Amino acid sequence: MARIGIDLHRRIGSVDRRIFGNFIEHLGRCIYGGIFEEGSSLSDPRGYRLDVLEAVRPLRVPVLRWPGGNFVSGYHWLDGVGPVDARPRRSELAWYAEESNRFGTNEFIEYCRRIGAEPYICVNMGTGSMDEAQAWVEYCNGTGNTSWANLRRQHGHPEPHGVRYWGLGNEMYGGWQIGSLSAEDYVKKARTFALVMKRTDPTIELIGCGHNGWSDWDAIVLEGLAPIVDYHSIHLYTGQPDHYANVFQSHQAERAVRICSALIEQVRLTQRIAHPIHIAFDEWNVWYRTRSHEDRVGGVEERYNLSDALAVATYLNGFIRNCRTVRLANFAQLVNAIAPIFTSATGLFRQTIYHPLRLYAEHTLSTALDVQVDGPTYDLPADREQDVIGRVHHVADLGPFSLLDASATWDPATGQLTLAVVNRDRERSHLATIDLGGATVTGGLLVSDVTGPDVGAVNSFERPDVVCVQERRREVGGATLDYDFPAHSLSVLRMQVR
Ligand code: AHR
Repeated sequence: MARIGIDLHRRIGSVDRRIFGNFIEHLGRCIYGGIFEEGSSLSDPRGYRLDVLEAVRPLRVPVLRWPGGNFVSGYHWLDGVGPVDARPRRSELAWYAEESNRFGTNEFIEYCRRIGAEPYICVNMGTGSMDEAQAWVEYCNGTGNTSWANLRRQHGHPEPHGVRYWGLGNEMYGGWQIGSLSAEDYVKKARTFALVMKRTDPTIELIGCGHNGWSDWDAIVLEGLAPIVDYHSIHLYTGQPDHYANVFQSHQAERAVRICSALIEQVRLTQRIAHPIHIAFDEWNVWYRTRSHEDRVGGVEERYNLSDALAVATYLNGFIRNCRTVRLANFAQLVNAIAPIFTSATGLFRQTIYHPLRLYAEHTLSTALDVQVDGPTYDLPADREQDVIGRVHHVADLGPFSLLDASATWDPATGQLTLAVVNRDRERSHLATIDLGGATVTGGLLVSDVTGPDVGAVNSFERPDVVCVQERRREVGGATLDYDFPAHSLSVLRMQVR
């Protein structure tokens, strides 16, 4: 029998709700045919797909990143503002496509308002100039009598958009990125961009372009940008067909955070940086199936199974455990392109990964607690590390892995407690005693389980609920409770404690 120990006095820190951020890129059908489809009977007169809006809202997205991604490094924002029919149609060289520019800055801001998210704009540091980035900040946030602020007013927005988060380029280290740079060259260029952007609006917060968190790039960029950035970004995509490698690879995010946190601490100490620098985990997901050149043309429409949903839940537990440094994260991406919501011209279904995203966004509370799990473990053989595209994540050395992975959050003001447990065991359920360390449960338990027939189970238009959430109430009380965590499942247990 496993034991899960929770102690209300062992607090890790406060959980920033911005870890439930998301991301939309001009990639395949994420925007056009996803969140925005002019002329569709499912859309409102402005072109926003109402069925998609309804599916997005329960994800309670606090911050939405846009417009890329790789796309941004060839994007000129001026192409996407003003009268829609006059906007230029351009070649789109990141994803071998064409860009109509019918969805641009003001459409994005409106979308954010509709879903209650704060906008996060990443600027073009590939083909884009420092002038252009400066003008974008001024167009969005300017209050003066300048041509850029006045252009926004002329476009029907008298009030500034107040965009707080600005990313200094996307994945500028990668050969696939338009205008990629060496770390040293990136630092020089990013400093020039940052200076004019910050002078235009000193209240904005800047996200420096990190890599995986542990590379030389991260060290050099942090060293060079620490005085001017508020966040350092990390991107990570994991996953492979072997279930255990798939779910345990999510722990790579925690290793990335640990190493990056140490780099940040070192730079802050040696440079005497007073302001905090947090991690913005601004792209993360399982993504390994649709990565060929052909998929890029088709728009990376990954289909997710139950194993992937458990991997996503494991990532979220890791962000909660590392809540002191991960203060912002953006799931990549929201609709169709490697996404929880999958549309057609006539409808949509929720992929397996939708359910953990929704449950954590709904039930995660303000204070993370340090959970102790004693139970069965699994050793991942190193020969299972290579995935179908030849990528190796080298996570075997992080094991042996607990088959039950847990996070707990608590709200001291209300006494509500949420325990999220992922049972990564492919075959077996595990009975565990949950020990509340002297606290007691009062008033029952709300249980939300996500599971399905097997780890390969997928949802589809024909069978949208093969993997779904089962909710039920259970009467319990006292200082401990027993729960049998079903094989290959996520269980979110919400309770009142005293
Ligand atoms: O999210 C898909 C792509 O992954 C993004 O465009 C890029 O930033 C990353 O390589």
